[in-house]
Amino acid sequence: YANIIRTKAIDSNYIPDRFEACESEYTFPSNFEFGVATAAYQIEGAWDVAGKGENIWDFLTHNRRELIVDGSNGDIACDSYHKTEEDVQLLSDLHVDVYRFSLSWSRLLPGGHANFTNPDGIRYYNELINALILKGIKPMITLFHWDLPQPLQEIGGWPNPYIADIFVDYADIAFNLFGDRVKDWITFNEPYQICAEGYSTGRLAPAYTQEGIGGYLCGHTLLLAHAKTYHLYQKDYKPTQNGKVGITIHGAWAEPATDSAEDRLSADTYVRMYFGWFAHPILSQTGDYPQIMKDMIRDKSATQGFSKTRLPEFTNEEIEMIKGTADFVGLNHYTSTVCSGSDDLIDAKPSHQNDRIGTCSQPPEWEGGASSWLKVAPWGFRKILNWIKDEYDNPEVIITENGYSDTGDLEDCARIRYFNEYLGALLEAIHEDNCNVVGYMAWSLMDNFEWIHGYTERFGLYHVDFSNPDRPRTAKMSSYVYRNIIDTRKIDT
Ligand code: NOJ
Repeated sequence: YANIIRTKAIDSNYIPDRFEACESEYTFPSNFEFGVATAAYQIEGAWDVAGKGENIWDFLTHNRRELIVDGSNGDIACDSYHKTEEDVQLLSDLHVDVYRFSLSWSRLLPGGHANFTNPDGIRYYNELINALILKGIKPMITLFHWDLPQPLQEIGGWPNPYIADIFVDYADIAFNLFGDRVKDWITFNEPYQICAEGYSTGRLAPAYTQEGIGGYLCGHTLLLAHAKTYHLYQKDYKPTQNGKVGITIHGAWAEPATDSAEDRLSADTYVRMYFGWFAHPILSQTGDYPQIMKDMIRDKSATQGFSKTRLPEFTNEEIEMIKGTADFVGLNHYTSTVCSGSDDLIDAKPSHQNDRIGTCSQPPEWEGGASSWLKVAPWGFRKILNWIKDEYDNPEVIITENGYSDTGDLEDCARIRYFNEYLGALLEAIHEDNCNVVGYMAWSLMDNFEWIHGYTERFGLYHVDFSNPDRPRTAKMSSYVYRNIIDTRKIDT
């Protein structure tokens, strides 16, 4: 099948004026929780220390170095494994209420399976959790932030349905070990990226390119793994530990280029197939994928020579099991896009790109960070929050990531402006639109390994010198601004 390339130009009339909400007089409620977020592979280093097993990012960076823009890896990263005390002090200096970090599955279970637990992994995370609690900082744990144990990839990774139960065993161990002190759990970070980028476009580990197929198989396993984990917690841990379990989904906003029905459908489909792919089964009453996703992929599959839809189907029991399995939804939001056009891709080869209606892109005049995809559009933050409120009956939302990349300046004015504008949009969503947002985590505590972009894109409130073996951290201006926001509950202009 020919891959039709579209060229329709974007009509930029829709673009709202530059957002000025940073003058906001609104304040964050006193019980609103501020934090910062990180992920194990991006900061820990110590990739093969004291019994840790190999994971898919160790494997990718060591064996397919050409895929990482600066040829780097997370072998040492920020060396946080050796700097528990120092990093907890940084957090304490920031006055955060919460620290969101992830567990390295292979540090705890080197082979991926629950039959062997690495005592050093238990020690490391116990020390971190205890140090946080001593400083009055709440630990929030992400169970899976992209670093699948390599032995599990060797049996197929997430597209293998059997991995769901292996994940539940891992989660069981984590709840059992740490749940007496940890009350906020996130099963998965950004399932869209794990699946579409890991198994379809090949832009994240394991960098497979089963376009339009691998991603959907992965997503199916992941949703079942999430739901089973949620139920395990309800049954075995909730009565004694009384915590919450949610999932973190990346949600970019999609704005229609014009008010035409075509452009609105294109933008709406983008949000449903991107955020809704994982949010809809868990948060809607249907317990299933968004209708448009089921219809469109089925229709396209039929014209592409598939006898069945490329999107796996849940059984009725699975639907009942998945429905309602989130005490909160974690939203990672950074940016927005603009969509236009109708569907003329019926013949295109299977891919996530083609399983959409029309095309979406970011106007070149939008200001951006060091990451090519990160354009500043704070008004889109308010819009996605309203979409979630309306679509899923105002669920409890925690912003589990939001932040800005640059190349490392300590006087990081653009980052400060970004935070002020996005937090301004958030205040309006809370006060004017009644969106049920209860917490906000900035990405990230410090500069770290930005996946295939290596160390070239920096998101930190603290600068890290990666050329110095000691990995010294230095406060950027934004860290003081953020602390002030936390202290005053107001954005600081
Ligand atoms: C989302 C991911 O969860 C995180 O790992 C990544 O570094 C940031 N976005 C920035 O791209």
